[in-house]
Amino acid sequence: MSKTLISIADLKRDIESMRTANERVAFVPTMGALHEGHLSLVKEARNHADRVVVSIFVNPLQFGPQEDFAKYPRTLKEDIALLDGVDVIWAPNAAELYPDHFQTNVTNRKMSSHLCGAARPGHFDGVLTVVMKFFNIVQPDIAVFGKKDFQQFKLIEQMVKDLSLKINVIGAPIVREQDGLAMSSRNRYLSVDDRADATRIYQGLQKAKELYKKGSRNKQELVDTCREVIVSSKKFAVEYIEICDVNTLSIVEEKSTEKSTTQIPDEPVVMLVAARLGQTRLIDNMEF
Ligand code: PAF
Repeated sequence: MSKTLISIADLKRDIESMRTANERVAFVPTMGALHEGHLSLVKEARNHADRVVVSIFVNPLQFGPQEDFAKYPRTLKEDIALLDGVDVIWAPNAAELYPDHFQTNVTNRKMSSHLCGAARPGHFDGVLTVVMKFFNIVQPDIAVFGKKDFQQFKLIEQMVKDLSLKINVIGAPIVREQDGLAMSSRNRYLSVDDRADATRIYQGLQKAKELYKKGSRNKQELVDTCREVIVSSKKFAVEYIEICDVNTLSIVEEKSTEKSTTQIPDEPVVMLVAARLGQTRLIDNMEF
Protein backbone atom coordinates (compact mmCIF):
# COMPACT_ATOMS: atom_id res chain seq x y z
CA MET A 1 0.00 0.00 0.00
CA SER A 2 1.44 3.38 -0.98
CA LYS A 3 1.72 6.17 1.50
CA THR A 4 -0.80 9.00 0.93
CA LEU A 5 0.13 12.45 2.19
CA ILE A 6 -1.90 15.64 2.21
CA SER A 7 0.13 18.46 3.73
CA ILE A 8 3.11 20.14 2.10
CA ALA A 9 5.11 19.75 5.31
CA ASP A 10 4.60 15.97 5.41
CA LEU A 11 5.55 15.62 1.78
CA LYS A 12 8.68 17.75 2.23
CA ARG A 13 9.71 15.61 5.20
CA ASP A 14 9.49 12.45 3.09
CA ILE A 15 11.33 14.01 0.16
CA GLU A 16 14.04 15.20 2.55
CA SER A 17 14.66 11.65 3.74
CA MET A 18 14.87 10.43 0.12
CA ARG A 19 17.47 13.13 -0.53
CA THR A 20 19.43 12.18 2.58
CA ALA A 21 19.53 8.60 1.26
CA ASN A 22 20.85 9.95 -2.09
CA GLU A 23 17.81 8.66 -3.96
CA ARG A 24 16.69 10.03 -7.30
CA VAL A 25 13.13 11.28 -7.22
CA ALA A 26 10.71 11.16 -10.16
CA PHE A 27 7.47 13.10 -10.07
CA VAL A 28 4.23 12.43 -11.95
CA PRO A 29 1.60 15.16 -11.52
CA THR A 30 -1.98 14.10 -12.26
CA MET A 31 -5.52 15.29 -11.68
CA GLY A 32 -6.62 11.79 -10.69
CA ALA A 33 -9.37 9.77 -12.42
CA LEU A 34 -6.46 7.57 -13.36
CA HIS A 35 -6.30 5.20 -16.33
CA GLU A 36 -3.68 3.13 -18.15
CA GLY A 37 -2.18 6.30 -19.62
CA HIS A 38 -1.31 7.61 -16.15
CA LEU A 39 0.03 4.21 -15.12
CA SER A 40 2.38 4.28 -18.11
CA LEU A 41 3.76 7.60 -16.82
CA VAL A 42 4.39 6.00 -13.44
CA LYS A 43 6.14 3.09 -15.15
CA GLU A 44 8.30 5.51 -17.13
CA ALA A 45 9.11 7.39 -13.90
CA ARG A 46 10.20 4.12 -12.27
CA ASN A 47 12.68 3.51 -15.09
CA HIS A 48 14.47 6.74 -14.26
CA ALA A 49 14.49 7.04 -10.48
CA ASP A 50 14.66 5.28 -7.12
CA ARG A 51 11.49 6.90 -5.81
CA VAL A 52 8.25 7.90 -7.50
CA VAL A 53 5.96 10.61 -6.18
CA VAL A 54 2.52 11.01 -7.80
CA SER A 55 0.32 14.02 -7.08
CA ILE A 56 -3.45 13.97 -7.41
CA PHE A 57 -4.98 17.42 -7.52
CA VAL A 58 -7.80 18.86 -9.62
CA ASN A 59 -6.29 22.27 -10.12
CA PRO A 60 -8.99 24.99 -10.09
CA LEU A 61 -6.59 27.51 -11.62
CA GLN A 62 -6.55 25.76 -14.99
CA PHE A 63 -10.33 25.59 -15.53
CA GLY A 64 -12.23 28.44 -17.16
CA PRO A 65 -15.51 29.66 -15.61
CA GLN A 66 -17.60 27.68 -18.15
CA GLU A 67 -15.48 24.52 -17.92
CA ASP A 68 -15.92 21.23 -16.11
CA PHE A 69 -14.11 21.86 -12.81
CA ALA A 70 -17.14 20.99 -10.67
CA LYS A 71 -17.97 17.81 -12.55
CA TYR A 72 -14.38 16.68 -13.20
CA PRO A 73 -14.24 13.05 -11.97
CA ARG A 74 -12.82 12.69 -8.48
CA THR A 75 -12.02 9.06 -7.71
CA LEU A 76 -9.36 9.25 -5.00
CA LYS A 77 -10.05 5.85 -3.45
CA GLU A 78 -9.81 4.01 -6.78
CA ASP A 79 -6.77 6.08 -7.78
CA ILE A 80 -4.92 5.14 -4.59
CA ALA A 81 -5.66 1.46 -5.26
CA LEU A 82 -4.33 1.77 -8.83
CA LEU A 83 -1.14 3.42 -7.59
CA ASP A 84 -0.20 0.53 -5.35
CA GLY A 85 3.59 0.33 -5.30
CA VAL A 86 4.18 4.05 -5.84
CA ASP A 87 6.35 5.45 -3.02
CA VAL A 88 4.30 8.52 -2.19
CA ILE A 89 0.88 9.70 -3.33
CA TRP A 90 0.41 13.37 -2.59
CA ALA A 91 -3.17 14.66 -2.61
CA PRO A 92 -2.81 18.28 -1.50
CA ASN A 93 -5.77 20.52 -0.80
CA ALA A 94 -6.54 23.76 -2.58
CA ALA A 95 -6.69 25.79 0.64
CA GLU A 96 -3.06 25.01 1.40
CA LEU A 97 -1.80 25.39 -2.17
CA TYR A 98 -3.73 28.58 -2.83
CA PRO A 99 -4.25 30.39 0.47
CA ASP A 100 -6.13 33.69 0.57
CA HIS A 101 -4.25 36.45 -1.21
CA PHE A 102 -2.46 34.02 -3.55
CA GLN A 103 -1.62 36.31 -6.45
CA THR A 104 1.28 35.07 -8.58
CA ASN A 105 1.08 33.28 -11.92
CA VAL A 106 3.54 31.71 -14.32
CA THR A 107 2.74 32.86 -17.85
CA ASN A 108 4.13 31.75 -21.16
CA ARG A 109 3.96 34.60 -23.66
CA LYS A 110 4.25 32.71 -26.93
CA MET A 111 3.74 28.98 -27.20
CA SER A 112 0.58 29.16 -25.11
CA SER A 113 -1.24 31.57 -27.40
CA HIS A 114 -2.46 29.18 -30.13
CA LEU A 115 -4.11 25.72 -30.29
CA CYS A 116 -5.67 24.91 -26.89
CA GLY A 117 -4.38 28.18 -25.46
CA ALA A 118 -6.57 30.15 -27.89
CA ALA A 119 -9.67 28.13 -27.01
CA ARG A 120 -9.04 28.05 -23.27
CA PRO A 121 -7.80 31.48 -22.15
CA GLY A 122 -5.81 31.29 -18.90
CA HIS A 123 -5.68 27.49 -18.97
CA PHE A 124 -1.95 27.21 -19.46
CA ASP A 125 -1.23 29.93 -16.86
CA GLY A 126 -3.07 27.68 -14.43
CA VAL A 127 -1.14 24.60 -15.51
CA LEU A 128 2.28 26.27 -15.43
CA THR A 129 1.60 27.91 -12.09
CA VAL A 130 0.60 24.70 -10.35
CA VAL A 131 3.38 22.68 -11.98
CA MET A 132 5.97 25.30 -10.98
CA LYS A 133 4.62 25.23 -7.46
CA PHE A 134 4.75 21.42 -7.41
CA PHE A 135 8.32 21.47 -8.76
CA ASN A 136 9.37 23.84 -5.98
CA ILE A 137 7.78 21.66 -3.32
CA VAL A 138 8.81 18.23 -4.64
CA GLN A 139 12.15 19.30 -6.18
CA PRO A 140 12.23 16.21 -8.38
CA ASP A 141 15.16 15.10 -10.54
CA ILE A 142 12.74 13.89 -13.18
CA ALA A 143 9.16 14.77 -14.11
CA VAL A 144 7.03 12.76 -16.50
CA PHE A 145 4.17 14.16 -18.61
CA GLY A 146 1.96 12.49 -21.19
CA LYS A 147 2.34 13.58 -24.80
CA LYS A 148 -1.42 13.44 -25.31
CA ASP A 149 -1.37 16.98 -23.92
CA PHE A 150 1.38 17.83 -26.37
CA GLN A 151 1.15 21.60 -25.98
CA GLN A 152 1.21 21.27 -22.19
CA PHE A 153 4.28 19.04 -22.43
CA LYS A 154 6.12 21.52 -24.67
CA LEU A 155 5.16 24.45 -22.42
CA ILE A 156 6.53 22.67 -19.37
CA GLU A 157 9.77 21.86 -21.21
CA GLN A 158 9.99 25.53 -22.16
CA MET A 159 9.30 26.72 -18.61
CA VAL A 160 12.01 24.44 -17.23
CA LYS A 161 14.45 25.82 -19.78
CA ASP A 162 13.43 29.47 -19.41
CA LEU A 163 13.49 29.42 -15.62
CA SER A 164 16.68 27.31 -15.36
CA LEU A 165 15.12 24.50 -13.35
CA LYS A 166 17.32 21.44 -12.83
CA ILE A 167 14.64 18.93 -13.79
CA ASN A 168 14.71 16.39 -16.57
CA VAL A 169 11.28 16.57 -18.24
CA ILE A 170 10.27 13.37 -19.99
CA GLY A 171 7.40 13.08 -22.45
CA ALA A 172 5.70 9.68 -22.48
CA PRO A 173 3.91 8.31 -25.56
CA ILE A 174 0.12 8.43 -25.85
CA VAL A 175 -1.64 5.31 -24.61
CA ARG A 176 -4.62 4.34 -26.74
CA GLU A 177 -7.70 2.20 -26.35
CA GLN A 178 -7.93 -0.82 -28.68
CA ASP A 179 -9.79 1.21 -31.30
CA GLY A 180 -7.20 3.97 -31.17
CA LEU A 181 -8.96 6.55 -28.98
CA ALA A 182 -6.35 8.33 -26.85
CA MET A 183 -6.93 7.55 -23.19
CA SER A 184 -8.23 10.49 -21.19
CA SER A 185 -10.04 11.00 -17.92
CA ARG A 186 -12.68 12.91 -19.87
CA ASN A 187 -13.53 9.87 -22.05
CA ARG A 188 -15.81 8.75 -19.26
CA TYR A 189 -18.10 11.69 -20.11
CA LEU A 190 -18.87 10.10 -23.51
CA SER A 191 -22.19 8.38 -24.10
CA VAL A 192 -22.06 4.89 -25.63
CA ASP A 193 -22.88 6.30 -29.08
CA ASP A 194 -20.36 9.12 -28.83
CA ARG A 195 -17.72 6.71 -27.59
CA ALA A 196 -18.12 4.71 -30.79
CA ASP A 197 -17.58 7.86 -32.89
CA ALA A 198 -14.71 9.19 -30.79
CA THR A 199 -12.14 6.97 -32.51
CA ARG A 200 -12.54 9.02 -35.70
CA ILE A 201 -10.02 11.54 -34.41
CA TYR A 202 -7.40 8.82 -34.29
CA GLN A 203 -8.50 7.47 -37.67
CA GLY A 204 -8.24 10.95 -39.19
CA LEU A 205 -4.74 11.44 -37.82
CA GLN A 206 -3.73 7.99 -39.06
CA LYS A 207 -5.03 8.68 -42.55
CA ALA A 208 -3.16 11.97 -42.72
CA LYS A 209 0.00 10.29 -41.47
CA GLU A 210 -0.27 7.61 -44.16
CA LEU A 211 -0.55 10.32 -46.79
CA TYR A 212 2.47 12.09 -45.29
CA LYS A 213 4.42 8.82 -45.33
CA LYS A 214 3.58 8.41 -49.00
CA GLY A 215 5.24 11.74 -49.59
CA SER A 216 2.51 14.38 -49.37
CA ARG A 217 3.75 17.67 -47.95
CA ASN A 218 0.63 19.55 -48.96
CA LYS A 219 -0.62 21.01 -45.70
CA GLN A 220 -4.15 21.65 -46.88
CA GLU A 221 -4.46 18.13 -48.24
CA LEU A 222 -3.19 16.61 -44.97
CA VAL A 223 -5.49 18.73 -42.82
CA ASP A 224 -8.50 18.13 -45.09
CA THR A 225 -7.88 14.38 -45.06
CA CYS A 226 -7.93 14.32 -41.29
CA ARG A 227 -10.96 16.62 -41.09
CA GLU A 228 -12.98 14.55 -43.56
CA VAL A 229 -12.65 11.43 -41.44
CA ILE A 230 -13.62 13.28 -38.26
CA VAL A 231 -16.62 15.12 -39.64
CA SER A 232 -17.93 11.95 -41.28
CA SER A 233 -19.69 11.85 -37.94
CA LYS A 234 -21.99 14.88 -37.90
CA LYS A 235 -21.71 15.02 -34.13
CA PHE A 236 -18.21 16.45 -34.23
CA ALA A 237 -17.42 20.14 -34.09
CA VAL A 238 -13.76 20.56 -34.97
CA GLU A 239 -12.01 23.29 -33.00
CA TYR A 240 -8.66 23.05 -34.76
CA ILE A 241 -6.53 20.74 -36.86
CA GLU A 242 -2.99 22.06 -37.14
CA ILE A 243 0.45 20.93 -38.17
CA CYS A 244 3.26 22.24 -36.01
CA ASP A 245 7.00 21.95 -35.68
CA VAL A 246 7.66 19.25 -33.07
CA ASN A 247 10.37 21.29 -31.37
CA THR A 248 9.00 24.81 -31.32
CA LEU A 249 5.30 24.06 -31.72
CA SER A 250 5.09 26.89 -34.23
CA ILE A 251 2.53 26.33 -36.96
CA VAL A 252 4.29 25.13 -40.08
CA GLU A 253 3.87 27.54 -42.90
CA GLU A 254 3.34 26.39 -46.41
CA LYS A 255 6.25 27.15 -48.69
CA SER A 256 6.05 27.68 -52.43
CA THR A 257 8.02 25.41 -54.71
CA GLU A 258 7.98 25.13 -58.47
CA LYS A 259 5.55 22.24 -58.25
CA SER A 260 3.19 23.47 -55.61
CA THR A 261 2.37 26.38 -53.38
CA THR A 262 1.44 24.32 -50.37
CA GLN A 263 4.52 22.38 -49.30
CA ILE A 264 5.30 21.95 -45.61
CA PRO A 265 8.97 21.63 -44.64
CA ASP A 266 10.40 18.11 -44.52
CA GLU A 267 11.10 18.26 -40.78
CA PRO A 268 9.55 16.44 -37.82
CA VAL A 269 6.04 17.75 -37.39
CA VAL A 270 3.09 16.98 -35.19
CA MET A 271 -0.53 17.10 -36.27
CA LEU A 272 -2.81 18.24 -33.45
CA VAL A 273 -6.58 18.06 -33.20
CA ALA A 274 -9.17 19.41 -30.79
CA ALA A 275 -12.82 18.62 -31.40
CA ARG A 276 -16.04 18.59 -29.45
CA LEU A 277 -18.21 15.53 -29.42
CA GLY A 278 -21.43 16.54 -27.72
CA GLN A 279 -20.39 18.25 -24.49
CA THR A 280 -16.97 16.57 -24.42
CA ARG A 281 -13.86 18.26 -25.71
CA LEU A 282 -11.32 15.74 -27.03
CA ILE A 283 -7.71 16.36 -28.02
CA ASP A 284 -5.20 14.12 -29.74
CA ASN A 285 -2.06 14.37 -31.82
CA MET A 286 0.33 12.34 -33.89
CA GLU A 287 4.00 12.95 -34.66
CA PHE A 288 4.95 12.49 -38.33
O1 PAF B 1 -2.19 17.03 -17.26
C1 PAF B 1 -2.73 17.18 -16.15
O2 PAF B 1 -3.32 16.27 -15.59
C2 PAF B 1 -2.66 18.53 -15.47
O3 PAF B 1 -2.71 19.56 -16.40
C3 PAF B 1 -1.44 18.69 -14.54
C4 PAF B 1 -0.14 18.62 -15.32
C5 PAF B 1 -1.46 17.61 -13.48
C6 PAF B 1 -1.49 20.05 -13.84
O4 PAF B 1 -2.64 20.20 -13.08
